[in-house]
Amino acid sequence: MKQRTPIIAGNWKMNNTAKEGVALVNAVKPLVADAKCKVVVCVPAIDIPAVAEALKGSNIALGAQNVHFAEKGAYTGEISAAMLKEYGVKYVIIGHSERRQYFGETDETVNKRTLAALGAGLVPIVCIGETLEEREGGKTENVLDRQIETGLKGIDDISKIVIAYEPVWAIGTGKTATCEQANETIGYIRKKCAEVFCPKCAEKVRIQYGGSMNAGNCKQLMAMPEIDGGLIGGASLKAVDFATIVCYDQGGIQGMKLPKELL
Ligand code: PGA
Repeated sequence: MKQRTPIIAGNWKMNNTAKEGVALVNAVKPLVADAKCKVVVCVPAIDIPAVAEALKGSNIALGAQNVHFAEKGAYTGEISAAMLKEYGVKYVIIGHSERRQYFGETDETVNKRTLAALGAGLVPIVCIGETLEEREGGKTENVLDRQIETGLKGIDDISKIVIAYEPVWAIGTGKTATCEQANETIGYIRKKCAEVFCPKCAEKVRIQYGGSMNAGNCKQLMAMPEIDGGLIGGASLKAVDFATIVCYDQGGIQGMKLPKELL
């Protein structure tokens, strides 16, 4: 039994039109209906209305991939927390490394978005993690310290957010961190959260691992005591793979009658 209820979230990134997204969640729903962990899919903004409808009555929660920090106003191309909430969105990924790398996201903007999301009653899934260069240069802890101190500044109860530890070098590369590496680094993040915030909240905050987690390696990763779930990119695009990860502690989806089109 895990100390904290695990949370497995799919991050579709810029994949799936609304129609494709609905087909995917319709395939996933029956496969994860008995899941013991919390299940989330974080979908492209324009897919939200259709996927929200398809998820009604299921045990899968809806998430977005970004949110702006202002309530409303002259921010062409951006989406506010209220717009997400109107469709029943509960979670929002903030500070994914792809946004940091390609869209100028910084620890400061991560902080603003996180506080705005929390203020609106959304659960932020805040992504942190080091690049390969930083790991090889022995800077992992410094980078995480900065991302925690600045990115999470001013949060009164850290247990209200989810943290996703995603080593940048493991994202979409097929190179997973070893279970020990992931466990040790997540342990470090929890220790840092206890120092910066409060020990009790740090015990409660769920910290996911993300980076090439898949149907084959999920069980070993999830067996590590510090790992409270996964943020799943590529493997969340295939119903069977995603459901296998979600059901990691129930023997996967073996024995389930799969619809023909999924075989
Ligand atoms: P991946 O992506 O599972 O495809 O490595 C994870 C993520 O970027 O959240």
